Order: sequence, then structure tokens, then C-alpha cells
Amino acid sequence: MAADLTHPVRSLWDAMSRQRRELGVAGVMGAIASGSAVALLGVSAWLIATAAQMPPVLTLTVAAVLVRTMALSRALFRYVERLVGHDAAFRGLTQLRVSVYQRLEQLAPTGLRAFGRGDLLARLVADVDAALDLPLRVVLPWVQAVLVAGATVAFLAWLLPSVGLVIAVLSIVAVALVPWLVSLTSRVAEARMAPARAELTAMVVRAFDATPEIAAFGTAPSVAAQVSSLDDRVTRLNGRESFSLGLGGGIGTVVQGCAVTAALVLAVPAVLDGRIEPVWLAVAALLPLALFDVLGTLPSSALAYQRIRGSALRLAEVADLPLPVTDPRHPLALPHAFTGVEIRGMRARWVPDTLALDDIDLSVAPGSRIAVVGPSGAGKSTLAAVLMGFLPYEGSVAVSGVEIREADGDDLRRHVGLLTQQAHIFDTTIADNIRIGDPDASDESIELAVADAQLSSWIARLPRGIDAPVGGFGLSVSGGERQRIALARLLVARRSFVILDEPTEHLDGATADALSRTMNAALSDATVLLITHRLLGVEDFDLIVQLGKGRVVARGTHDELMRRGGWYAEQWTVEAERQDMSRLLPELPIGRAVPAP
Ligand SMILES: Nc1ncnc2c1ncn2[C@@H]1O[C@H](COP(=O)(O)OP(=O)(O)OP(=O)(O)O)[C@@H](O)[C@H]1O
Ligand SMILES: [Mg+2]
Repeated sequence: MAADLTHPVRSLWDAMSRQRRELGVAGVMGAIASGSAVALLGVSAWLIATAAQMPPVLTLTVAAVLVRTMALSRALFRYVERLVGHDAAFRGLTQLRVSVYQRLEQLAPTGLRAFGRGDLLARLVADVDAALDLPLRVVLPWVQAVLVAGATVAFLAWLLPSVGLVIAVLSIVAVALVPWLVSLTSRVAEARMAPARAELTAMVVRAFDATPEIAAFGTAPSVAAQVSSLDDRVTRLNGRESFSLGLGGGIGTVVQGCAVTAALVLAVPAVLDGRIEPVWLAVAALLPLALFDVLGTLPSSALAYQRIRGSALRLAEVADLPLPVTDPRHPLALPHAFTGVEIRGMRARWVPDTLALDDIDLSVAPGSRIAVVGPSGAGKSTLAAVLMGFLPYEGSVAVSGVEIREADGDDLRRHVGLLTQQAHIFDTTIADNIRIGDPDASDESIELAVADAQLSSWIARLPRGIDAPVGGFGLSVSGGERQRIALARLLVARRSFVILDEPTEHLDGATADALSRTMNAALSDATVLLITHRLLGVEDFDLIVQLGKGRVVARGTHDELMRRGGWYAEQWTVEAERQDMSRLLPELPIGRAVPAP
């Protein structure tokens, strides 16, 4: 969907209306159905009025056949219109949803900071769903209304020009003026509706996410009060929407009454002075009645238009966000064999004017293991974001000899893998979660990855084994198991260069050590860049790079950095002493009775 914040509905229509031919057919079919309904009343009126004069029955045959035809065609064409129109609209909706999702995917993970999770959910679900009404409740009804009004006015003008003129004027009122009034009175409420609904969704999503904290701190009543106040706002906006709709409906009925009265007032003298046959009086009076029934749907179309406008604006906001990284028009393909990473004079920033990384030089040879260490905020994860193609950079970053800004992001990520501290676990089975790494992976390679990630004994204890569901966000697995599932996913993906960004961060010491050992063994063939601020365990890495405030502060092997002193040596010594201490603790006689001297 192309971004256009000034004409959001037009962009939405462009995205929704690729099935132009089907929508056109639906419009014509709908117009024939509505036209049949109007004509049915007209022909019936003529038939009844003529029959009252008791003419020979043959005179009535054609009209009787027409009545039956119209009654049938009204239903038949309406059915076809619904079938074709809904098919086209739902296909348009799918295309729109896919294009919005693709945009979100291009923006993720670094370009979506402006939106919350619930807000994004509302945009992808509710706002996209609202677009369905654009063809079905706005465009098609209007097209039909205009076509039927035109045909009816033309017929009435042929019958009696003055009636045609009056009905033409009142039709314009019903097609344009009344919907405009509905739009005007509902515009403010409808503009607020989509954001209000999104806020409600976001609040509910937040409340669900934080259920344990809410229960633990007893804040459920205040959260419920917030949800209820947001819900009240949506209800109030609904009330204002109903007011506008009621106003439009009321005026529409008055217009309909005026149309019938005016037709009678003009047609009666015409009958009296012989300009038209008396039987046409009923036709002149009843055709407007049926016509304005058709036009009576337009106030709700106007309301739907305003609602769609709110949603279209929110979708355009997503489409309008600048991409954090744009793929080149003619990307260079990365070679199959990994030949290392070369970073030269690289700088990167999250926000303008603030460098998160500055003047970074780093060579990663194939098969080597490099640790990037440093205090919190040093820029370690930023380095991972650049290497994954999530963040633009200055200087040079080449993977297997290809500058990554010249490569396609997806191609790059087929060579470079990432395991983060909080890998996302989907609400499905363990097997499916692992298979995300490679949708075509065979059962054998999944089993191999499970074994390498040391999950086999845990899975063997589960009643449903690898087909056990893990719950929403992996709630029914422990932190260690979650990371091992994510590791198995990474192993299945077989990336030649693997970035591990604090994969043991949220785990206790023993679990973290066990996972580190597993990772070292499982990834022994890969080239590994381990990001960590936990220094125990990096001693035998080929190179340790210490970052500080976005710059390389020191680099070397463990022994070199220890000899050099500074942050690394101090931090490593503190951690080593703490570990010795925790090993000693169980042996200390704490809590045990000390025999009296
Ligand atoms: N998404 C972001 N938007 C804006 N600024 C960011 C973003 N991510 C990181 N930064 C900033 O970039 C700098 C480096 O952050 P980074 O996450 O790379 O640090 P880190 O070394 O990984 O820290 P930690 O050990 O806590 O994970 C910090 O000043 C941080 O505030
Ligand atoms: Mg980090």
C-alpha cells in the first residue's frame, strides 16, 4: 500500500480494488437488482391501476410477466452482486493485509519503535478489517444509487418532465446532501473511533501481558477501571455515531415523503388535464417511494466512509514510516561459502546526532570465535543490529566480501543468524517452533538439532514429546528451555555466521553455564560472535573485543587483556571471585549449630 497521508482513503482504495473487473460486475449487478426493485413497484402499480379498469386480460399479460421477472431478477442479481462483490472485496482485503504485514516486516525490528504491540495489533487486524467496508458499504451502494436514480429520473422525466425534475433534485439531496450531513456530524467521532478502539486493544493486550504483575501487586481494580473508561469512550463515540445515523435516516424519510407528495401534487393536475393516462398516477407516486428506499442506505455508507477514513489514516501512518534500511534495487548476492566479516571504520546511530557505534574495525575469520564484551549501553547489540542488516551504517561492513548495504536483507540473514536474550517462542508445538529455522527441515535434522541443543531428555519426559505445545509466548517452558528451543531453531537454520546476543542473560548461573557449554559444542563448526557482559567463559575465545561508549576500547586474547589490566581484568577477577565464593558457600557452616568451645 503506497503511503499517502493526505489521501488515505484513495491509497486504501488503490490497494483494495485490484479486482476492478469483478467490482465493476458487482456494481452493475447491484444496480440491476436495485433497479428491478424500483421497477417492480412501478410495474405493479401500473398493473393494479390498469386491472382496476377491467380491461381484456391480454392487456395485462405483459405486465404480469414483467412483475414476475422483476421479482425474480431482484433476488437473483442481488445474490450475484453479493457473491462477486464479496469475493472481490475479500481478495482485496487479503492483498491489503499482506501488504501491511510486509511493510511491518520491512520496518521490524528497528523501525517500529513508534508503535506499541497492542496498537500494531489493532492496525493489522481492526483497521485492515475496516477496509472491507470501502467496496461493500461505500463504493458499491453509491454506484448503484447513482445508476438507479439516473434511470428512474429519466423514466419519470419521459412520463412527466416536472415530476422528473423534482425527483432529480430530491435525489441529489438524498445522494449527496444527506450523506454529507451525516459525514459532517460524525466526522469528529469517527476520526476518534479507530484510535480509541486501538487504545482499548492496546490496554487489554498490556493487561494480559502483565497479568502476573497485576495480580502480584493487586492493581487489577485500577487496570479494570482504565479498561472500562476506555470502553466507555468507545461506547460514547458509538452513541454519537448512532445520532448521526438517526439524523440521516430521519431526513431521508422526510425527503422520501416530500418526493411522493410532490409527485402526486404534480401528477394529479396532469391526469386531470389529460396530459397523462390516469393509470400512470400510481406509477408516478410509487416509483419515488421505491427509489428513496434504495437511496436510504446512503447515510450509513457516509458513516462507514468516515470510519474507514480513520482506519485508512492509521494504515497510511504505517506505510508512511521511513524504512530503517532500504534494500538496494540491484542487490549483490552473497556467495554460498562464508569467507568472513570485515568491518572498517563503521559508525551507526539509532537517532540522528548520537553515535551508538563509532569507528569500529573488526575482522572475523571463518571458523573463529569472537567475544564482544563491555558494560551495558556500550553498543554491543547495536553491532548485532548492523550485522543483521536492521540498522544503517557508515563506513564498511562486508560479509563474505559483499558490502551488506549492497546486499538484499533477506539474503544477508540467510547467512547470518541471531540468537537474542529473549528469543520469541510462538504459541505452537516445540517442533513447529524449531522448524521456523528452516520450514523444509526433515524430521531427522530437527531431531539432530534437538539433541545438539540438549533438549532430548527434557522432551522425552513430556507426554506429547516434541509435539507438546509451549503456550503463548512460551509460558509453559522455563527460561533455559526457551533458549534451548531457540538454539535448536538456529541450528536447524544452519547459518554460517552466528551472533549470540547475551543468550544466557536471564538465566541463573548454573543454567547459564550449562547452556554456554551446549552452545559451544553445538556451534563448534560455525563462526561465532558472542555478545556478553558476563566474562566467565570467554577465556578461550580467539579474540575478545571490549566496547565502551560505542568504541573499541581494547582487544586481544584473554591473557593479553588480563595482562593489560583495566575494565576487563577487573570485571573478570570480580566474577571469578564471586564464582569461587558461591562454590565455597555450601561448605561454610552457615545455619549449622557450632559446637560450644
Ligand atoms: N532501539 C533503540 N532506539 C534508540 N536508541 C537505542 C536503541 N537501542 C539502543 N539504543 C541506544 O544505543 C546505545 C547502545 O545500546 P546497545 O543496546 O547497543 O547497548 P548494549 O551494549 O547492547 O547494552 P546491554 O548490555 O544493556 O544490552 C545506548 O545508548 C542505547 O540507549
Ligand atoms: Mg544489548
